[in-house]
Amino acid sequence: MRSPSSEGSAPLPIPPARWHTSCNRSADDAGPRSTGVQAAVIQQCSDVSQPGWLALRQQLWPHCAAKEHLAEMSAFLAEPARFAQFVKYDGSGVAVGLVEVAIRTDYVNGADTSPVAFLEGIYVVPRARRSGVARELVAAAERWALGMGCTELASDAAIENTSSHAMHAALGFVETERVVFFRKVPR
Ligand SMILES: CC(C)(COP(=O)(O)OP(=O)(O)OC[C@H]1O[C@@H](n2cnc3c(N)ncnc32)[C@H](O)[C@@H]1OP(=O)(O)O)[C@@H](O)C(=O)NCCC(=O)NCCS
Repeated sequence: MRSPSSEGSAPLPIPPARWHTSCNRSADDAGPRSTGVQAAVIQQCSDVSQPGWLALRQQLWPHCAAKEHLAEMSAFLAEPARFAQFVKYDGSGVAVGLVEVAIRTDYVNGADTSPVAFLEGIYVVPRARRSGVARELVAAAERWALGMGCTELASDAAIENTSSHAMHAALGFVETERVVFFRKVPR
């Protein structure tokens, strides 16, 4: 996933939320309840009001303000050939997981092709983990990437996020590189 460690990857039109945030939430996060969604489905987001989308983003990137999320979500929806987002609802219609995918056009570490589809973010509420939600969401992202003509789906994860590493490996991703980013204030 794009995280503070992924700044060497392709820049998006506006600063991605994850660059300001981290993925840590309590086990009480259940996402919003929705009355208008079909149970046990994955839906592609088509509006910023997609049930659960904002709440799941806020759980994944809690240090980003809601208005910043909403601005980014609107920007992504305006470019459906570059960005897609999918929300998983459980049998009660509760949003339990989110995946965001993008087409990146500049260099992506470890990728052999360009443009390349990139898994920008994935989050599953704690109570729904280890039940295959991420597996389903990544499959949805893969289908979208294939439909967009991409032959690779790339991703990244923070070095310490071993759960994410395990998920990637289980879902067929192959680790390609480990990178350390640096910065200094030029004088
Ligand atoms: C990483 C995350 C998305 C996985 O979601 P999930 O729905 O639990 O994953 P799945 O149930 O689809 O798991 C698929 C496979 O990945 C592996 N896996 C997933 N989580 C794992 C963990 N914590 N430890 C070891 N293996 C794990 C397993 O092999 C699993 O298959 P299995 O349960 O049959 O053994 C979820 O833990 C999460 O939201 N974490 C916080 C946010 C995050 O770190 N996102 C990624 C970086 S931004």
